[in-house]
Amino acid sequence: MTDSPAVWASHLRKRYKKRVAVDGVSFTVGRGEVLGLLGPNGAGKTSVIKMMLGLVRPDAGEVMLLGRPNTDPRSRERVGYLPELFRYQPWLSADEVLALHVRLAGVKISGSDRRESLGLVGLADRAKDRVGGFSKGMQQRLGLAVALVARPELVVLDEPTSALDPLGRADVRDLLLSLKERDVAVLLNSHLIGEVERVCDRVVILDRGRVAAAGTLPELLGRRELRLVLTNVTAEAAALLEPFAREGDHYTVTLPDDVPALIADLVKLGVRVHAVEPARVSLEERLLDILRTQPEEL
Ligand SMILES: Nc1ncnc2c1ncn2[C@@H]1O[C@H](COP(=O)(O)OP(=O)(O)OP(=O)(O)O)[C@@H](O)[C@H]1O
Ligand SMILES: [Mg+2]
Repeated sequence: MTDSPAVWASHLRKRYKKRVAVDGVSFTVGRGEVLGLLGPNGAGKTSVIKMMLGLVRPDAGEVMLLGRPNTDPRSRERVGYLPELFRYQPWLSADEVLALHVRLAGVKISGSDRRESLGLVGLADRAKDRVGGFSKGMQQRLGLAVALVARPELVVLDEPTSALDPLGRADVRDLLLSLKERDVAVLLNSHLIGEVERVCDRVVILDRGRVAAAGTLPELLGRRELRLVLTNVTAEAAALLEPFAREGDHYTVTLPDDVPALIADLVKLGVRVHAVEPARVSLEERLLDILRTQPEEL
């Protein structure tokens, strides 16, 4: 069953009263793949995740988790989940919360493994403290430890870093990369697009319940650009630079143009070349672009 993808979701649909929250969403997450789920508030990301995990009943569509239909409770045995909104029993200690979840998952995880999980999220020295006294970011860190403690093959994280400080975010990034090395699949929903861009292999962008775009980062980011910083641009050189966008001394060249030939020609014409630097489109720019060009009525 390890040949099957970690997640296979087909034509998911959900309506709350008159509001269609999710409308025909399909995607897969491969083993060891990190998939980013992006989209504006209310796009349907959390609804998709909840249907996927069998927490909300879809009006239509099917899901397979780790090779089993998600209607089979065993499909969730090897799944770790960090919900968007959660609160643990405030009277329990961090270690007791983990022990409870390990018991619920029905797996054997030793006390030292539990402590290792707390260490991974930077809570090693708070194991015995009551969760009720934890800060928001510490609760989120504990949520991550809960998602990871039972050695899942698929980890689903619904905004894991919204409350974390920059150091905590960097830790989560490293954590995700180490999961990937161990062939654990990850579905990551986050509004922190830089983060998604750094760790995700593939991205699905939802807008008003539908998939607005999907693909690998190179597929989505598409064109590569170079920025040239030039002075002493003669009239002849300006003619050569005519096809390119210009902002002051900065010219943007879309690849694959013959850059060495262009630079050689410019230098021959007396242009001074101060910089030739990559100017890749960021995922954030691309996302805004995609969302702004979506038709009003889908
Ligand atoms: N239990 C519910 N009852 C009624 N409507 C709901 C319920 N859950 C979600 N919705 C609606 O479904 C739509 C999608 O919500 P969802 O929580 O999936 O969005 P999201 O993409 O996760 O947004 P965010 O980025 O703000 O977390 C919204 O219009 C929301 O109001
Ligand atoms: Mg959400």
